[in-house]
Amino acid sequence: MIALEEVRKTYLLGKTKVEALKGVTFQINKGEMVCLMGPSGSGKSTLLNLAGCLDRPDSGKIWIDGEEVSLYSLKKLAGIRSSKIGFIFQAFNLIPVINVYENIEFPLMIKKEKISEKEKKTRIDNLIQAVGLEKFAKHRPDELSGGQRQRVAIARALVSSPEIVFADEPTANLDSETGKTILELLASLNQNKKTTFVFATHDPSITRYATSLFQMKDGILSKKEI
Ligand SMILES: Nc1ncnc2c1ncn2[C@@H]1O[C@H](COP(=O)(O)OP(=O)(O)OP(=O)(O)O)[C@@H](O)[C@H]1O
Ligand SMILES: [Mg+2]
Repeated sequence: MIALEEVRKTYLLGKTKVEALKGVTFQINKGEMVCLMGPSGSGKSTLLNLAGCLDRPDSGKIWIDGEEVSLYSLKKLAGIRSSKIGFIFQAFNLIPVINVYENIEFPLMIKKEKISEKEKKTRIDNLIQAVGLEKFAKHRPDELSGGQRQRVAIARALVSSPEIVFADEPTANLDSETGKTILELLASLNQNKKTTFVFATHDPSITRYATSLFQMKDGILSKKEI
């Protein structure tokens, strides 16, 4: 359902060229939990951003559900994201001027699918409970700790019931107990709704949940045996 073929991405850092992805080819099937490991700067976030339709490759092809998206405009990519993809960012990207409930509600405001106000509220309340933020629903992100913000970002990524969730270091700011609760929540969505997850992480405890493992090194991806 997600396929990349010979995907390349180079950034310009001042005058230096950084080859973040040097021809990455891989395929992920529906219902997988994929874990992308690799040292800092190896290209994990870059790969997630491209496969997650946040950015475009310099060359190579990307397919989502059989639809080639590599040459789509950023606007068209936003449409694909809103209908199928959830994203948990390394830097959370929460909206600072609205509260936790409203941050989680946000993807539903821009999604075309119409759901009733009642169902919307139930969904958001259930997610807030699932990530353990009942007491903070009315607070703004700047009143929360790093781990609490991370949990808002996770609830926000799940609220539109996406088919695919890309998660960049989803447990990085969480203590191991909260990290485990969150991973159990994601694993149950994977089991019950066949949601596909792609994690980029340094956290070896995530690999326990993975159906396939990849290693990123200097912009080159290789498959690892579990
Ligand atoms: N917007 C950008 N502009 C310039 N260079 C970038 C940009 N984004 C990433 N890079 C460079 O591309 C390379 C890959 O970065 P990337 O963020 O994909 O690594 P990563 O594996 O996610 O690292 P980390 O584990 O630290 O999050 C790095 O050398 C980085 O400096
Ligand atoms: Mg990264």
